[in-house]
Amino acid sequence: MSLIDSRFSILSEDFAADPYRHFARLRERTPVHYEPETGSYFLSRYQDVKRVLTDHEAFSTETLQERAEPVMRGPVLAQMTGAEHTAKRKIVIRAFTGPALHEQIQAVRTNTAELIAPFLPLGRVDLVNDFGKPFGVHVTLDVLALDKKDWRRIAAWHSGVAEFITSIVLTPERRRHCLDCAEQLEAYLLPVIEQRRRHPGDDLISTLCTAEFDGIAMSDRDVTALIVNVLAAATEPADKTLALLFKHLIDHPAQLAQVRQDPGLLPAAIAETLRYTPPVQLIPRQAEQDAVFAGTTVPAGATVFCMIGAANRDPDAFTDPDTFDIHRPDLGAARSFTAAAQHLAFGTGLHQCVGAAFARAELETVAAMLLPLLDQVRHSPGHPYRETGLYTRGPASLPLDFTPVTDFTPVPH
Ligand code: HEM
Repeated sequence: MSLIDSRFSILSEDFAADPYRHFARLRERTPVHYEPETGSYFLSRYQDVKRVLTDHEAFSTETLQERAEPVMRGPVLAQMTGAEHTAKRKIVIRAFTGPALHEQIQAVRTNTAELIAPFLPLGRVDLVNDFGKPFGVHVTLDVLALDKKDWRRIAAWHSGVAEFITSIVLTPERRRHCLDCAEQLEAYLLPVIEQRRRHPGDDLISTLCTAEFDGIAMSDRDVTALIVNVLAAATEPADKTLALLFKHLIDHPAQLAQVRQDPGLLPAAIAETLRYTPPVQLIPRQAEQDAVFAGTTVPAGATVFCMIGAANRDPDAFTDPDTFDIHRPDLGAARSFTAAAQHLAFGTGLHQCVGAAFARAELETVAAMLLPLLDQVRHSPGHPYRETGLYTRGPASLPLDFTPVTDFTPVPH
């Protein structure tokens, strides 16, 4: 049986405009979609995606050597295996959980207050471009103890790095631009690494600089790669999820009213946002041996893209999957941020997101602060809603109107 539909392309403008419209047909008719321009396979069924992400023998992260390493300047966590992966993953997790988390949540509060303050008297904010993007970068810079006055430069370099990793097709000019960004980011980080090696603090970069594996410290290249890894992984999905959360709640006023009344529902609302519209839409793997899905063989060596958005809307995994419902019984708010998550927005298996618990705390904190400040929040008229991105996806902008606030002082402590 050929499951290849020659007329349909994931690289088409039609798909980019609204992939969700195509997911049911893909799952039902072409669950293994071959994209000739890239020579890669796209899997859309929940069970197939889960199989790829958990069968680490049959599907490796080898593809990241090409897709990530050139801009990360060294190996990222997702490329590592065995003891090295476990040990380095633990270091990163420690920086985002336990006692460290408490301090970071304080930084989330401070950043939220400072960044939203100028917009409150106006009664209008673009939650993506005015708030979410700087917020995502500021919080990550705080975690890494990097200087926030450099945030615009770092954000610009970071966006070049992210473009490289998340492009399905990249022109030679854009490739050059992305590599330039990566070189500049590396040049910025190297003196910081040198300084933290001499005077370590209690931040993640210092921990990476002083950690040893089998008695050997990490090289500057290894530390740089992990910093860029965290910078890229922590920033973009968080700001996209925040905007998507507000969009869905505004579009479902009864659920917005319930969350306003009971902020304890926020984790469920965030989890449902991640299921319904995962900001990371594609996770790549390399088939290490021929693998058969729904009667189609994916040959050894091929790149396989797991379509997280399609898997999260699979009726075999979730009842009434195209409905946004923060009360859905088949999700479970608490486990949605753990290895037992039913949705696949954080991936699953050995490489499941290390920042899931932090992302929950970060998003819960910022949303709990913004909701009472943004009274009567609604879409600003005259701005058609548009999402962008095939690999990572979120609103291009989210202009919102709300009741102006004139007596806010950004001192959250
Ligand atoms: C809503 C927010 C987030 C989403 C949706 C998200 C999504 C993901 C996904 C899908 C993966 C799996 C990639 C794969 O299997 O190849 C991943 C891995 C990862 N994430 Fe996140 N992420 C989020 C926030 C964060 C944050 C805040 C951090 C900060 C530390 C982070 C750090 C990482 C790292 C380091 C990995 C690689 C883990 C490994 O390979 O062992 N993420 N994330």
